[in-house]
Amino acid sequence: MDIAAIKINAGRLQEDLLALARFGEEPEGGMMRKALSAADLKARKWFKRRMTEAGLQVREDEAANIIGRLKPKKESGSGPCIATGSHIDAVPHGGRFDGAVGICAALEALRSIREGGFSLPIPLELIVFTDEEGSHYAGTFGSRAMLSLLTDGEIYKSKESGQPTLAQDLARMGKDPEKIGQAVRSPSEFLAFLELHIEQGPVLDKMGIPIGIVEGIVGIHRCLIHVEGKPGHAGTVPMKERDDALVKAAQIVLAVNQAIVSAGQDTVGTIGEFRVYPGAFNIIPGRVEMSLDLRSMEEKVLMGIKGEIDGVIASVDGARVQPVGMKSGVFMDPRIKEEIEASCRKRGVRFHRLESGAGHDAMSFPVMGIPTGMIFIPCQEGKSHCPEEAIRFEEAAIGTQILADTLLRLSQKGSELRQGTNSSASR
Ligand code: HGY
Ligand code: MN
Ligand code: MN
Repeated sequence: MDIAAIKINAGRLQEDLLALARFGEEPEGGMMRKALSAADLKARKWFKRRMTEAGLQVREDEAANIIGRLKPKKESGSGPCIATGSHIDAVPHGGRFDGAVGICAALEALRSIREGGFSLPIPLELIVFTDEEGSHYAGTFGSRAMLSLLTDGEIYKSKESGQPTLAQDLARMGKDPEKIGQAVRSPSEFLAFLELHIEQGPVLDKMGIPIGIVEGIVGIHRCLIHVEGKPGHAGTVPMKERDDALVKAAQIVLAVNQAIVSAGQDTVGTIGEFRVYPGAFNIIPGRVEMSLDLRSMEEKVLMGIKGEIDGVIASVDGARVQPVGMKSGVFMDPRIKEEIEASCRKRGVRFHRLESGAGHDAMSFPVMGIPTGMIFIPCQEGKSHCPEEAIRFEEAAIGTQILADTLLRLSQKGSELRQGTNSSASR
């Protein structure tokens, strides 16, 4: 059967995207769907039902990843698969399409392939990964749990004092955190992984091009910075005798920002969380907790700037760094990029190759030698991780068609994909 005969249903895709966006929507237009929150659990339940209705065989693993399998008609369907998917959770007050477009596109692609009666040579899988955004700790949790990339005891840690850990939230939904190892799958179960996502930057939107073929994903280092001072009365302790944790933290923020700006190149760094304790008008801050997210395409640059920042923090009395996670930048597999390109040419769709400055679950697969690719669609004015995040549904439909076509092309390559894997993990 010709791949061109498989046509995705754009109306149905749009309905799914809009229905999913209702879970956690805020009156001001933003989205509040932190991983394993009440809104997330409702969204997951709804999406699981949609997956079952689409004819997928659905299960959930110990990391709460949702896995739906589309089996070849004539086989047991237990062999290695080609997987696609993304995440369902959102950043606080984020947008409606980050992650959501990837899972809805994957659902529509697999549904169309099934309905089209395409005779699949190997199974396809749709995976909805848990806590990609790192609301509990380090991010890309589900894909790292699946590929044995979690760090020791990570699920028992929280990035914010007093907030539930993943272990607590997994237990609350009936999982046994002690059995998290059961989520691990052998890399040999995957012939390839392909994720569709919004670009989250302005390149495609500015160029007016509907498809981005991702070359590689940025490396990300994350840590928490703790600053200790001495709490005291805001009215009675003279200025000269204070050890104000917030004043010291402010010095760190400026010095870290300056170090990153000076590094130039493609390095970016963000202190996005900042908590002052005990936190009152009339108490001198005794403690500050802040997060640092540092990114660069080049591992050497990333490590260099990290060393410099560690030095800045070490020079401030009472300040210390707690590493949270280090994810190396990765390259996408050249053969998958070629198949995405071939899919675009066949449908007469314009494409552009670009790097991803955002992190994705697709980062976890190349680390385990699994050939990986990513398809981007534009987001308007490049806005993401904010309520203004928007897409054009026509472009989501084009992306979904290219996703379906590429999955089919890859399925025809089958086990050939595992030979001579060169999706080098580290950049
Ligand atoms: O943080 C990121 O880059 C992603 O959007 N989760
Ligand atoms: Mn995101
Ligand atoms: Mn995302």
